[in-house]
Amino acid sequence: MADQYAQNQARGEPRRIPSLRWEESPEGPIVVLLDQTRLPADEVELSCTDVPALVQAIKTLAVRGAPLLGIAGAYGVALAAARGQDVEEAASLLGRSRPTAVNLAYGVRRALDAYRTAAGKGSAPAAQAALAAARELHQQDADASARMAGHGLALLDELLPEGNHRILTHCNTGALVSGGEGTAFAVALAAHRAGRLRRLWVDETRPLLQGARLTAYEAARGGLAYTLLTDNAAGSLFAAGEVDAVLIGADRIAADGSVANKVGSYPLAVLAKYHHVPFIVVAPTTTIDLDTADGAMIEVEQRSGHEVTYVAAPHLLTAEGGASGGVPVAPLGTPAYNPAFDVTPPELVTAIVTEAGALSPVTGGGIAELCVRSRQV
Ligand code: MRU
Repeated sequence: MADQYAQNQARGEPRRIPSLRWEESPEGPIVVLLDQTRLPADEVELSCTDVPALVQAIKTLAVRGAPLLGIAGAYGVALAAARGQDVEEAASLLGRSRPTAVNLAYGVRRALDAYRTAAGKGSAPAAQAALAAARELHQQDADASARMAGHGLALLDELLPEGNHRILTHCNTGALVSGGEGTAFAVALAAHRAGRLRRLWVDETRPLLQGARLTAYEAARGGLAYTLLTDNAAGSLFAAGEVDAVLIGADRIAADGSVANKVGSYPLAVLAKYHHVPFIVVAPTTTIDLDTADGAMIEVEQRSGHEVTYVAAPHLLTAEGGASGGVPVAPLGTPAYNPAFDVTPPELVTAIVTEAGALSPVTGGGIAELCVRSRQV
């Protein structure tokens, strides 16, 4: 990761506070997070000295995005082990803290497996094994991110040979959610660096504004030409012929190629199909869950209606003790429907780009093959 920062500095890009880091403090190890609920106004770090604090940070979206949730889960297990806490219970708590992004369960299991395998040698070697597993996942995610950027840019160039791409994206998929430069955003960044990005259209991504607060923050820092739009302005943008491709990430990809991602992704896929625009999903193979047969089996997180009926910076909406605060934008007591994700069926997805290559068309057989190939990368 240090190399990534050095490269960014050399390119004249701003220094970035890591989204997540492990620190050996005098009081013991801690997991330090860049608190994403405070962005873009404040770059504030949040120190988690134990697993309940990390679980709270996951639930309130201080740390978020599928790949980073996996990394956080793995470091959480390492934290419990290093601090002599109940590792099995910690793993269970972490794994249940958010249900949709399969990376979280994957990261927790990976560190827990390493811990269990080394447990016979004593608690210190077992804790070291869990930490080594977390560090390995962190580095692998950075490597996967770089590969996805390469495969994604090659695919864009193949689908849109005239270059000068106008890309629409949803939610936040950059360095804030990754050990590297992200998933879909990393592809847009690669296009920008290659001089082939005309514009990044950024959906604001209601209700918690991951697009406005986080993607716009990353696009501004990276020097990309970007424009923010409300989610419901996307239709008229397609109708005006202003979108050449949609690039999004994923929280879980089922065995049949169904894609769960931030709510609002499915309507974009429908729009893209109608307007004959490629709809491209970029995700590491750690986001593929072969145990989930299809989209109907993906558990979609339902969040507090307060996030819809009130407007405020997320750290105010998700204050201690549950959702509270903010300015009401609906009559008191209004019921709200607030799924955090939706599911796009494979027939609406033009391609899935992973570190092991791109898959198009998206089929169950192709998904299984990607998983096999990822073990050889
Ligand atoms: O609720 P969030 O902010 O964790 O949702 C994140 C997303 O939906 C991202 O698009 C997804 O995790 C892909 S990030 C590479």
